[in-house]
Amino acid sequence: MRHAAITAVGHFLPDERLTNADLERMVDTNDEWIRTRTGIRERRILRDDDKGTSYMAARAAQDLLERRGITADEIDVIIVATVTPDMFFPATACLVQNAIGASNAWGFDLSAACSGFLFGLTTGARFVESGQHEKVLVIGADKMSAITDYTDRSTCILFGDAAAAVLLEPEESGCGLLDAALHIDGDGWEALCMRGGGSLNPPTYETIDKRMHFLHQEGRAVFRVAVQGMADISAEIMERNGLTGDDVRYLVPHQANQRIIDATARRMGISSDKVMLNIDRYGNTTAATIPLCLHDWEPELRRGDNLVLAAFGGGFTWGAAYVKWAYDGSDVAVPQEAVAEAEG
Ligand code: UT7
Repeated sequence: MRHAAITAVGHFLPDERLTNADLERMVDTNDEWIRTRTGIRERRILRDDDKGTSYMAARAAQDLLERRGITADEIDVIIVATVTPDMFFPATACLVQNAIGASNAWGFDLSAACSGFLFGLTTGARFVESGQHEKVLVIGADKMSAITDYTDRSTCILFGDAAAAVLLEPEESGCGLLDAALHIDGDGWEALCMRGGGSLNPPTYETIDKRMHFLHQEGRAVFRVAVQGMADISAEIMERNGLTGDDVRYLVPHQANQRIIDATARRMGISSDKVMLNIDRYGNTTAATIPLCLHDWEPELRRGDNLVLAAFGGGFTWGAAYVKWAYDGSDVAVPQEAVAEAEG
C-alpha cells in the first residue's frame, strides 16, 4: 500500500518578539492573566511592511529543501494553508513557487483557519497515494499580526506570525498518514471570523471604521466547542485505529490555548511529556502551529512513532490525523543558518 509520509520539515520565525510585558503597555492586560488563561509568554511578529505570508512560507520551504537535500524544481505540488494570503489573488502558492524557483510545480491555497494544515496534509497525501505525484509541499503560514486588532485585549494577546512546512513522499512499508477525520460546521462561523474585505463587505471607509478588517472572536463560545471538538475527534481517531494512550508517542495539537490542549491529552489518556507544546513561545500561529511543533520536536522523533495531530478552528473546522513517523529526526543534517539561529 502506497502511503504519503512526511519526509522533511522546515520552518520560519520572524526575529521580533512581542512579550506579555509589551502587551501590558498596549492594552489593559497582565502577564499573569495571559499565562494562566492561555499558556502564552511571547509571540513572533513579522514587522516589515513589505513582507507578507508568502515571504515566511517561502523561507520555511527553503529551510525544508536544504534539510532534505533536494532542489525546488523537484517539487510537484505546493499547498499553502493560510487565512492571511498576501492578496486575494494570485494564490500565495504562486508567490511561493516563484520565490523558491519551483519550476515544475502547480499548487493552490487552502482556507480552513486553524485546521488548515491538517486539511492541507490530508489533501496533499491524496496526490501521493494515488501515484500522481512524488513530492508534495504542504505549508502552514499565517501573518496573524496583519489581521489582529491591537486595541482588543481579548484577541491581541493570542496570535503570532510564523510558517512551517512538511514534504510528503511515497512510502511503501507502513509509515505515513494512516488515517484522518475532518469536519466543518458553518453554523458557528460568526464566533470566529473576519467580516470585512471580502465580497460580502468590500473595503470601504465604513468597514474600516467598524474595524471589520480585523479578526473577531467570541472567545468563551469558541473555547467551549474547541475543548469538546478536539478531545472528541482525537479520541475517535485513536479508537478506530485501535490506539491506547500507551501507543501514542506524541499528541501534536493546534496551539490555541494550553487549557484546550491539556483537556485533549487527559481525554486521550496521555501524560504531558507526550504532548508537543510550544504555545508559550509562539502563541497561536493559526495554520503554522502543527508543522512548527513537528519542526521543534523533529530531533526526538523516530521512525515508527505514532503521532496524533489534532486541530480546531474558525469555520468551524476541526479534525485529527494518525501519522506513523517515517524517519529518525536525529539523522537530519540541519542547515548551518538554522544552527546559528538556535544558538543565538
Ligand atoms: O485557534 C482557533 C480556535 N480558538 C480557540 O480555540 C480560542 C478559544 N478561546 C480561548 O482560548 C479563551 O476563551 C480566551 C483565552 C480567548 C479567553 O479566556 P477565557 O477564560 O474564556 O476568558 P473570558 O473571555 O471568559 O473572559 C474572562 C474575563 C472577562 O472579564 P469579566 O467579564 O469576567 O469581568 C474578560 O473581559 O477576562 C477578561 N479578559 C481579560 N483580562 C485581562 C479578556 N481578555 C483579557 C486580557 N487580560 N487580555
